[in-house]
Amino acid sequence: MSQPTIESVLQEKRLFYPPQTLAQKAQVKSMADYQALYDKATADPQAFWAELAEQELHWFKKWDQVLDWQPPFAKWFVGGKLNISYNCLDRHLTTWRRHKAALIWEGEPGDSRTLTYAQLHREVCQVANALKSLGIKKGDRVGLYMPMVPEAAIAMLACARIGAPHTVVFGGFSAEALKDRLNDAEAKLVITADGGFRKDKTIALKAAVDAALEDNGVPSVKNVLVVQRTKQDVSMEAGRDHWWHELQAEASADCPAEEMDAEDVLFILYTSGTTGKPKGVVHTIGGYNLYTHMTLKWAFDLKDTDIYWCTADVGWITGHSYIVYGPLSNGATSLMYEGVPRPSNPGCFWDMVEKYGVNIFYTAPTAIRTFLKMGDEIPKARDLSSLRLLGTVGEPINPEAWMWYHHVIGGGECPIVDTWWQTETGGFMITPLPGAIPTKPGSATKPFPGILADVVDIDGNPVGANEGGYLVIKHPWPGMMRTVYGDDDRFRRTYWEHIPPQNGQYVYFAGDGARKDEDGYFWVMGRVDDVISVSGHRLGTMEIESALVSHPAVAEAAVVGRKDEIKGEDVFAFVTLEDTHSPSDELKQALKQHVVAEIGAIARPGEIRFAEALPKTRSGKIIRRFLRNLASGEDLVGDASTMEDQSVLDKLREG
Ligand code: WTA
Repeated sequence: MSQPTIESVLQEKRLFYPPQTLAQKAQVKSMADYQALYDKATADPQAFWAELAEQELHWFKKWDQVLDWQPPFAKWFVGGKLNISYNCLDRHLTTWRRHKAALIWEGEPGDSRTLTYAQLHREVCQVANALKSLGIKKGDRVGLYMPMVPEAAIAMLACARIGAPHTVVFGGFSAEALKDRLNDAEAKLVITADGGFRKDKTIALKAAVDAALEDNGVPSVKNVLVVQRTKQDVSMEAGRDHWWHELQAEASADCPAEEMDAEDVLFILYTSGTTGKPKGVVHTIGGYNLYTHMTLKWAFDLKDTDIYWCTADVGWITGHSYIVYGPLSNGATSLMYEGVPRPSNPGCFWDMVEKYGVNIFYTAPTAIRTFLKMGDEIPKARDLSSLRLLGTVGEPINPEAWMWYHHVIGGGECPIVDTWWQTETGGFMITPLPGAIPTKPGSATKPFPGILADVVDIDGNPVGANEGGYLVIKHPWPGMMRTVYGDDDRFRRTYWEHIPPQNGQYVYFAGDGARKDEDGYFWVMGRVDDVISVSGHRLGTMEIESALVSHPAVAEAAVVGRKDEIKGEDVFAFVTLEDTHSPSDELKQALKQHVVAEIGAIARPGEIRFAEALPKTRSGKIIRRFLRNLASGEDLVGDASTMEDQSVLDKLREG
C-alpha cells in the first residue's frame, strides 16, 4: 500500500545525516544552527520575519506594523509598499543576474527557450501593457487557463506588475470547472492558449474557454487573450478574442511596477475542501513574497549557480510558489517542462536532468512510485550526477519510494527534502533544512523557523509522542492564506473552529492527521476529512458526488478514496440509480465521462460500483468509513450497529 500505516512509520528508525560537504556550504549548517534559528523565531516571530523582510526584499515603502492579528484574520507588513514582479525581475537587472537565465523551458515536442532576467522583464512589461490596453486595472481579476509554457509565468508576473490578481485554473480542468472558478472570481479577462501538448496529444484549451463563455456563461469576462502554441484551429470572436503575439508586438516594453500595498491580493487559487464548491484561497503580496522566498532559499539551500527544477504545473500552488515566485524572487534559474513521463518517453525527466545539469529536483511521490515501477535501468542510463538535492511534495511518501529516490536517483548522496504544506499555507511548513536536519524516510521532519506546528486532540490538547492527532499551526505566518475569496465565514469555519480556540488562542487546522515522534519529527498521515489526493492532485469527494448526481440516471452517490499503489489514492464511486435506469457497463462509462466533463480527467472515477442502497446511520448520514474499507478491500473498521439496514453492507461487498 502506498500510504504509510501507523505501524510502518513507528518501525521506521533509519536516520540519514546531511552529507558533510553539503552541510559545510549550506546556509543552515547544523542542527544547532537550525535550533537557534527556530528558537529565535519562536521567541519573537514578528522581529524574526521583519528582519528577513528588510534583508531579502525590496520595499518602495517600509511597513508601519509587522503583524496585525485579529484572529483569524492576519495582516503582515501593514502599510508596506512593494511589487512582487519588481522583486522577481527589476531588482536583478542592476546586478550580474541581468543576463542570467531566469526561465529555461522545454516543450513537450522538444522545442525550447531560455529567457534571461532582462528578457523576461521585457516580455512581462509588454504583456502588462497589453493587459492595460484591454482595460485591465489594478484590482481586476484575470483568469489563466494555460499549458506549461513560459507565457504562463509571464502572464502571472504581468498581472502582478499592474496589481491585477490572477486566478490560475489548471489546464486539465473541464470547461464547466473553469466556468465556476471564473464566475466565483468575477474575472474580467481570460488568458489561454489555442491548445497545449499533453502525453503525445493536444488539448484544446481555447475551445474549453469558448464553451465556458458560451451563452454569457461568465458575464464578467470581456476579453480573451490567446497564446499561439499548438497552431490548431480555433475560432476567434471579433472584439472579444485577441492573439497574445499581436498585442505583445504592439505593446511598449516600458511598464513600471505598480506600488502595491503589502496586503493587496496577489492571487486567488481554487482548491478542494470537504464541502461545497472549491474555495478561492486568497494570498496577498508582501507575506507571500517573503515566505516563498525564504522557504525555497533555506529548504533547498539555493545557490546562485543552481539549476532548479520543480515538475509541478503552474495551475497548482506548487507551480505558483516554487516554479515562479519563490525561484525568481531569489534570482534563481527555474526550469519549466511541458512534458510528463509517458509510455512513449518514460525517461524524459532524466533526460532533462542530464541535458540541463539539474542540481535541485522537486517532484511528487506519485511520480517517484511510477519511476520505481518502470525500473532502475531508465534512470541508470542517464547521467544524474549533477543532482544535489531531491524534493517531494503532495502526499505522504512511503519509505520504499523514499529509499529508491535516495539511492537510485540521488546516488545515495542527495538529501530528500520532504516538504509538507498546502495551497492555504503558501509555502513549506514542515521540511528538512538539508544541511542541518537529519532525515527519516517518510517524515517531513521539523517545522520551518517561525512555524509553531503541533499535533493535538480534538479539544486542542497536545498529544504525547507517537500518538496520532490533528496537525495544527499555533501562530500566524507571513505566507498564510488571508481568507476564502468572498467568504470570510467559510474561512473561519473551515480552518479555525474545528479545534476550539483556547483562552482566545486560535489554531490553524490543516485537515491532516499526524504524529510527532520522540525526536520531535512530524509524520503526516494524510487527510482526516473528505479530501483525497489522486496522483498528488487534491480533490474533494463532495465535488465528484455532485458531478455524479447531476447525471439524470443517478439517485445518490458516495465517493471515497481507494488506496492505489501508484496514484496514492484513486476515485471510487458508489452509485444508486433512479428507477428509470438499470446498471450496465455502458452506463458506468457514461458516468465516468460525465465526471470528466463536469470536473476534468483528474477526477475520473477509477471504479464505479452500482448499489441498491448506501450504508447510512439511522439519521440518514452516509457512513463513509465503511465505504472506504469496502473500496480498498479491507475488513470493516468500526461499529455497524448504528446502521439503519445491516443487509446493505453485505450487498455492497458482493458488488
Ligand atoms: C498533502 C500541495 C504528506 C496534505 C502543496 C495536504 C502532504 C495536502 C505533503 C495539500 C507531504 C502535501 N507529506 N502530505 N510532504 N505535502 N501533502 O493544497 O494532505 O494541493 O493537506 O498543496 O497535500 O494539498 P495542496
